Amino acid sequence: MITRKIRLAIMASGKGSNAEAIIKFSFENNAAFEVVGIITNNPKAGVVDIAKKYSIRCECIPSDGMTNNIESTISLMQIVETMGIEMIALAGYLRMIPNELINKFPNKIYNIHPSLLPKYGGKGMYGIHVHKKVIENREQISGSSVHIVESEYDSGKILCQSLVCVEESETPTTLSEKILQTEHIIYPLVLNEQAKQIICGL
Ligand code: GRF
Repeated sequence: MITRKIRLAIMASGKGSNAEAIIKFSFENNAAFEVVGIITNNPKAGVVDIAKKYSIRCECIPSDGMTNNIESTISLMQIVETMGIEMIALAGYLRMIPNELINKFPNKIYNIHPSLLPKYGGKGMYGIHVHKKVIENREQISGSSVHIVESEYDSGKILCQSLVCVEESETPTTLSEKILQTEHIIYPLVLNEQAKQIICGL
């Protein structure tokens, strides 16, 4: 039985389709988590509109480039503190995650990556670059991976993967779309299981 809901923040920089899938899941199921905040580094990101659509608090920490400066790290830490966050889902967040955040939420920050990690992960492997490489290497299967976030990119324990076939006629765009559809299914489910474990103190 779910006795309470874990307070989840989503961090995203782009369109926000995963954010929307996670929010919808939390509304439509008796989820073990509730999305209490969205944090972005991009005020023009689609995810900002998703936050508005579902009346979810949205905070923007603007940035130049990938790295964080002391001020942005302090702002981020203050935001998660004031939101009372207990777990974090990265969904296309194109910034380094500061170690301060990883240390504050050990094993409670998750990410979804559009490949079968450990393949096609690491620096420079994001978005369409991943799918281009998969097709270039004539892989027959690709997919997505939900994993725990560690300080090194795409390196933490893998919790779940979805598989899709890479067809002969596949383009990076069609592959990306196909994989994204599977992300929307597995990510909310994995977050729900993790939230239950947190509630149970596991
Ligand atoms: C997804 O492909 C996800 O795998 C990656 O970033 C993308 C986010 O897409 N980490 P969206 O903004 O959720 O639509």
